[in-house]
Amino acid sequence: MESFIDLARNRYSCRSYKNQEIPKDLLEKVLEASRVAPSAVNFQPWFFVVISDDSLKKMVSSCYSRNWLESAPIIIVACGNHSQSWRRADGKDHCDIDVAIAIDHLMLAATDYGLATCWVCKFDVMKCSACLELPSHITPIAIIPIGYPNDTVNPNRHKDKRKPLNDLVFWEKFNL
Ligand SMILES: Cc1cc2nc3c(=O)[nH]c(=O)nc-3n(C[C@H](O)[C@H](O)[C@H](O)COP(=O)(O)O)c2cc1C
Repeated sequence: MESFIDLARNRYSCRSYKNQEIPKDLLEKVLEASRVAPSAVNFQPWFFVVISDDSLKKMVSSCYSRNWLESAPIIIVACGNHSQSWRRADGKDHCDIDVAIAIDHLMLAATDYGLATCWVCKFDVMKCSACLELPSHITPIAIIPIGYPNDTVNPNRHKDKRKPLNDLVFWEKFNL
């Protein structure tokens, strides 16, 4: 079994997928990992719209400017429900944070099962909301393609571009 640190290192953004279906039970296992994610006050203000239908996939993919999105056998629209999320006393809405954690759980589980994913946030939110007929208190936060990676994909494209730990961690005191 792969250690957690190796799993975290092995996740990468995949932008080209094989034309190969994902078995439903495997997809459910991946989704289960998001179900158990933590959330502020355990409010769980997210849901995922899982899309395999070709015409719907095309429609949602058209909210993003790159054609590769459509190559995934499944695309998931991760949505936040702002009427369910926790607001701190200063008014900060924690919805996006909760959705992001759930997405990360899903992505790591997908990696564990040999699947690949990519965050996509640079999309037309209004258009996506209209495609899915979302009410105004629901926001599509990210589109997540999921599938088997094409053999041509380079999993290490960004790995050497990470900041060193020393630039990211301050022990005891902030000292930039
Ligand atoms: C919040 C967020 C939004 C992102 N949006 C996009 C996007 O719209 N399109 C895209 O191709 N990649 C997107 N990415 C992927 C990043 O480019 C990628 O995670 C980063 O370059 C590091 O590469 P890696 O994921 O392969 O380690 C996004 C990532 C995050 C976390």
